[in-house]
Amino acid sequence: MNMNKLTIEQLKEKYPFVIDYFKGNKLNVEGHEDKTFQEYIDSFGREYLEDWAVDRKKLVEDLEEYIEQMKQFLGLNEDEGVSSLTILPGYDKDGNAEVFKEITIKTSEIISIVGPTGSGKSRLLADIEWTAQGDTPTGRKILINGELPDNKWRFSSNNRLVAQLSQNMNFVMDLTVAEFLELHAQSRLVEDIESIIDRIIHAANGLAGEEFNLNTPVTSLSGGQSRALMIVDTAILSSSPIVLIDEIENAGIDRKKALDLLVAEDKIVLMATHDPMLALIADRRIVIRNGGIVDIIETSEEEKEILIELEKMDGIVQRMRNDLRNGNTLEFNDIEGIMKIPINW
Ligand SMILES: Nc1ncnc2c1ncn2[C@@H]1O[C@H](COP(=O)(O)OP(=O)(O)O)[C@@H](O)[C@H]1O
Ligand SMILES: [Mg+2]
Repeated sequence: MNMNKLTIEQLKEKYPFVIDYFKGNKLNVEGHEDKTFQEYIDSFGREYLEDWAVDRKKLVEDLEEYIEQMKQFLGLNEDEGVSSLTILPGYDKDGNAEVFKEITIKTSEIISIVGPTGSGKSRLLADIEWTAQGDTPTGRKILINGELPDNKWRFSSNNRLVAQLSQNMNFVMDLTVAEFLELHAQSRLVEDIESIIDRIIHAANGLAGEEFNLNTPVTSLSGGQSRALMIVDTAILSSSPIVLIDEIENAGIDRKKALDLLVAEDKIVLMATHDPMLALIADRRIVIRNGGIVDIIETSEEEKEILIELEKMDGIVQRMRNDLRNGNTLEFNDIEGIMKIPINW
């Protein structure tokens, strides 16, 4: 651990629970935030140390031990944090070798996976979820940070590498939204549960068309609302560095905002999609055919411009959906002048 290099300020930032350690040991660190813990301890006068029978070495060792234990307990693993995911080639359904050398994806990157139904998009996501080592039908291998993944990723349940978002996310518990979020926040030992729940509900309502609140039972959330809640929960409360999304189109949520949120939280995002907007939001897209990866395409400047047009169209569709839902009628005026579609289309 590099605790010895961090200032007290940085320690508090990175491991908010150290505040309890300081309090518990009656250490007043106020005004010493720019020092390392060792420097702070060294600044104690001899008299003070003798009066209080303070063992300097032990204080430092105990803090290190405390941070290690808390990290394990919380499932934090930033010392071995995930910064990249690499896919190594396997075989398509006919046993032909995939021709790419390797695909490496970094944090805050979005990769889409496109290809016909049955071509193997979900299979690729499953390879990643299982950190395949040539032991799945595709024969692919997955590396984490450029290395063979530790078994802890495969078998640890509280330290999950991957969070999955899919169409069929249903709540089975009889809880309110508040109770659900509280449970999750508690299990992640969040410091300020109330404010994080506020943040989640606010963000979730920003994604879902129809508002819900903390007292809404999770079982009565609409599909869009529960997906919005799960996405925000995954972005803000989950420690999983990789998020896999399998075809969440038509999900009744603001998909772009949802992805922005995941990217802002430093996740590696892979999503299988048939939705052109989602495919183009990605920085790159993996093209799958007959079970094999046949191409990796960087989203071009021209495609990014097309994406802007698609987003406008999507905005129109969403507004129309809301208008119709609210009993309004539609007029051509609503869309005229919004789309910049070239005459020769
Ligand atoms: N490279 C491969 N080798 C063998 N079977 C594969 C391969 N890729 C996909 N499959 C199988 O093909 C079927 C369809 O794949 P799937 O991932 O569900 O397609 P998609 O999600 O694109 O509709 C699945 O049973 C999957 O296990
Ligand atoms: Mg699929």
